[in-house]
Amino acid sequence: MKTVTVSLGDRSYPIHIEAGLLPRAAEFLAPVSRGRRMAIVTDENVRPHLATLQASLTAAGVESEAIVLPPGEKTKSWAMLEHVCHRLLELGIERSDHVIALGGGVIGDLVGFACSIVKRGCRFVQIPTTLLAQVDSSVGGKTAINTAAGKNLIGAFHQPAMVLIDPDVLDTLSARHVRAGYAEVVKYGLIDDFAFFEWCEANAPALLAGDADARVHAIAHSVAAKARIVAADEHETNGIRALLNLGHTFGHALEAEAGFSDRQLHGEGVAAGCALAFRYSVRKGICERQDAERVAAHLRAVGLPDGLAAAGIDAPSATLVEHMKHDKKMAAGTLPFLLAKGIGRTYLDKTVDLADVAAFLDAEAR
Ligand SMILES: NC(=O)c1ccc[n+]([C@@H]2O[C@H](COP(=O)([O-])OP(=O)(O)OC[C@H]3O[C@@H](n4cnc5c(N)ncnc54)[C@H](O)[C@@H]3O)[C@@H](O)[C@H]2O)c1
Ligand SMILES: [Zn+2]
Repeated sequence: MKTVTVSLGDRSYPIHIEAGLLPRAAEFLAPVSRGRRMAIVTDENVRPHLATLQASLTAAGVESEAIVLPPGEKTKSWAMLEHVCHRLLELGIERSDHVIALGGGVIGDLVGFACSIVKRGCRFVQIPTTLLAQVDSSVGGKTAINTAAGKNLIGAFHQPAMVLIDPDVLDTLSARHVRAGYAEVVKYGLIDDFAFFEWCEANAPALLAGDADARVHAIAHSVAAKARIVAADEHETNGIRALLNLGHTFGHALEAEAGFSDRQLHGEGVAAGCALAFRYSVRKGICERQDAERVAAHLRAVGLPDGLAAAGIDAPSATLVEHMKHDKKMAAGTLPFLLAKGIGRTYLDKTVDLADVAAFLDAEAR
């Protein structure tokens, strides 16, 4: 078993990672159940894993009640938030109870937010079931729903009490979703860890094919990186946590253009966005061309998009820049961009001119 700790004083918590952990999840959950019935929130597609989890709890003498939601990004809504909060209150959840979020980033974000407001905050455990959630969204305490005004605009920082990661649950996830989650894995290498990027180049095929050791290594390394960044900047105030947004400003524009639909999964937007961020850095004269080419070649090799064409986006640059202006990070008319001096040498640049970004996107589209 690998355990990574997120160090946040009295809100510190462990992340346990092991193949086969879900069938014995009760070892970790029974001690926090306080002899009470546990609520599990999940979605329809995760039912097989819900059965495994409930069997583990039952065998340990812990009763549980499942709240099963429809799958998909639309579930991160006011209506579902209200539904989950009502059900948790009906179940008599108390502030020291631990609600279990079993699912991908959608379930984790929604349940985490619900738990931040039910009775002014109850505890919750993340059991992420997508690669994206296992390496990124289940750790760090960002929770949110989407509204008509945009994605993730209503939410809270609310850290989980524990994260349980079983890579075996990825066996039922589509190859496309695994690949999309992998974009967030390789991102940690691109940010500040060249050696990990090299590990990714060598091991991505095994990882994507489901190799158990490669999965555990990639997940443990990714959550350790995220834990370090979150501990240094929990509320994204000093620029460190912002590094996690590498590829996300460009990626967000592509996702918005695709209407945040299955046409463009988040990780696919991030992959294309990372390739664009590196090429834009080359254009600005701060990154060697060969580094940007190496990043793009790796993304292509694993079947992820490496730019606008591969992502199937042919919108005018002005439209894409307009999407960027709706980014949460836009402040006082400027948008901070994550740029790179090389692989593993990402930094936050606050001097980027959006007109220049538009010219770059025009050149990219040609
Ligand atoms: N809080 C954060 O820090 C953070 C970070 C990154 C992304 N996010 C959010 O995460 C969300 C995306 O997460 P996601 O990619 O996990 O999407 P998701 O939760 O929608 O899961 C993707 C699909 O896989 C299905 N699924 C989940 N686990 C499965 C399994 N083991 N087997 C088969 N099917 C399974 C789901 O039902 C869904 O259809 C977005 O809403 C994004 O905003 C949050
Ligand atoms: Zn992301």
